[in-house]
Amino acid sequence: MALLPIRLYPDEVLRRECRAVESFGAELRALAGDMVETMHAAPGVGLAAPQVGVDLRLAVVDVTVGEEEDALIVLVNPEIVAAEGAEEDVEGCLSIPELTDKVTRPSAIVVQADDLDGGSFEIAAEGFVARAICHEIDHLDGILFVDRLRGLRRDRARRHLRRLERGLLEVRA
Ligand code: NI
Repeated sequence: MALLPIRLYPDEVLRRECRAVESFGAELRALAGDMVETMHAAPGVGLAAPQVGVDLRLAVVDVTVGEEEDALIVLVNPEIVAAEGAEEDVEGCLSIPELTDKVTRPSAIVVQADDLDGGSFEIAAEGFVARAICHEIDHLDGILFVDRLRGLRRDRARRHLRRLERGLLEVRA
């Protein structure tokens, strides 16, 4: 396994509509393994394939950051099939250094996805896990958490993004 470089805003791959995974096998498994290692090392609670430069619908989530093996969720071609409630909480993104803000997300979701062998499964999640999954699925559609901010929060985020675009922030490699 290997650590992969994390793509940072404004890398254009972060804005792509990712392609469905159609080929299940060793290559996909290796990519997912590298993504898990990269997420844990960052450290982060989620990572989507475009964040490592691959425009495929693949994401990993682990809100325990490697503390509990059972907590790891690998999502291939995920889709939210049900959502309820709304909760506001703080989010950040490994691709947008030095910015966190409050985002409203569903408080509970049901997601349908494929596993690494191409079998399909359904997972129900709530609270912070649901939030992390929604954040990662957004990445697969080229959506960043800053896109979901409104009002003064959006203005603040836009200023931050402009600084990133100009390379004025010291960013982690
Ligand atoms: Ni993110």
